[in-house]
Amino acid sequence: MNTMFRVTGFLAAVLLSGSVFAQNCELTIDSTDQMKYDKDSLTVSSECSEVTLTLTHSGQMSVQQMGHNWVLAESGDVQGIAQDGISAGLDNEYLKPGDERVIAATEQIGGGESTTITFSLEGLEPGGDYEFFCSFPGHVALMRGDFIIE
Ligand code: CO
Repeated sequence: MNTMFRVTGFLAAVLLSGSVFAQNCELTIDSTDQMKYDKDSLTVSSECSEVTLTLTHSGQMSVQQMGHNWVLAESGDVQGIAQDGISAGLDNEYLKPGDERVIAATEQIGGGESTTITFSLEGLEPGGDYEFFCSFPGHVALMRGDFIIE
């Protein structure tokens, strides 16, 4: 009886920690033909050893017409990264090659596609001022949100 209780308690703890992990370290965000993300903020736990982010594009337009990516940076770097990304072109995912201001970034995708990246929070500060955005030319105006580490 006692052993049974302990085993059950252990399994409950495993299930609970599993759901917390899924909630805080695995992120999903959708993007559309209306040049929007479906979320204006994303929150992760500072205890995540790594974060997995999946970007989907539920629209139908091509990557050349309505490409979307997900770029993470300090808020003060967003406009500069986006500006420098325009001339880099789609071949470079509209990001200046080797841009050290970029903390993490997916590739550009078109309608019906999805892409996943995994990155570390090492060196990032809980409570810091981070944002995500799309670096496709002009999209930063509408596709931008807060990345919260708590
Ligand atoms: Co976009």
